Amino acid sequence: MLAATPLASGRDADVYALGADRVIRRNRDGGDVRAEAELMAYLRGQGYPVPEVFRADGPDLEMTRLAGPTLAEALVTGVADIRSGARILATLHHRLHALRARRSPDPAARILHLDLHPENVMVTADGPVVIDWGSAREGAPELDLAMTALIVAEVATDPTSPFAALADELLAAFLAETGPVRLLDPAVSLRTRTGLLDPRRVAQAAARVRTAHG
Ligand SMILES: Nc1ncnc2c1ncn2[C@@H]1O[C@H](COP(=O)(O)OP(=O)(O)O)[C@@H](O)[C@H]1O
Ligand SMILES: [Mg+2]
Repeated sequence: MLAATPLASGRDADVYALGADRVIRRNRDGGDVRAEAELMAYLRGQGYPVPEVFRADGPDLEMTRLAGPTLAEALVTGVADIRSGARILATLHHRLHALRARRSPDPAARILHLDLHPENVMVTADGPVVIDWGSAREGAPELDLAMTALIVAEVATDPTSPFAALADELLAAFLAETGPVRLLDPAVSLRTRTGLLDPRRVAQAAARVRTAHG
């Protein structure tokens, strides 16, 4: 049994390295990651870039350890420029939304990630890989695009963030790739329920999305 070494922590999970090739992602508030693991296995089978899952047990997900920075790190360090970062995000959305939903009877429904922002994309030698599938569900693809725009705009409108200006440029470049955001209001409701910011801050971010493409 390999010792697990702390590797990274996000909002919801702690990630431990399990040797050179695997990590364990442990949800801090418990839960059951089986559905998330099953979705990741399905997506991988469809050729969508997600880590390979080896085991799902309660709050623990054991998967391939990806080598490379997150897209956020790549943008901050200049390894990726804004335009390619925006293209990566838009392309990952389009590839995901090209797949058929599995449960919804609505023929327009697609699998949505709903938290597809630069910290949930890792830039590897084999291309960008999407992590952190705990928010995924099925629905309208425009909601997924709106969530990405809104989350980037939350950083862009945060006066305390050293990355506010970068996020503002990324927002504009992302909207240039995707066109106008259609489902911003439902995205605001979802983010207000599930995000960390108070409703006033989410509304500020939404206003920035509107003016960015207005
Ligand atoms: N498969 C992986 N390989 C390497 N690092 C990972 C992997 N999965 C997650 N990480 C690292 O752990 C961080 C948090 O993981 P994430 O799944 O995004 O959890 P959270 O829900 O807490 O944001 C990521 O930003 C990344 O740096
Ligand atoms: Mg994350």
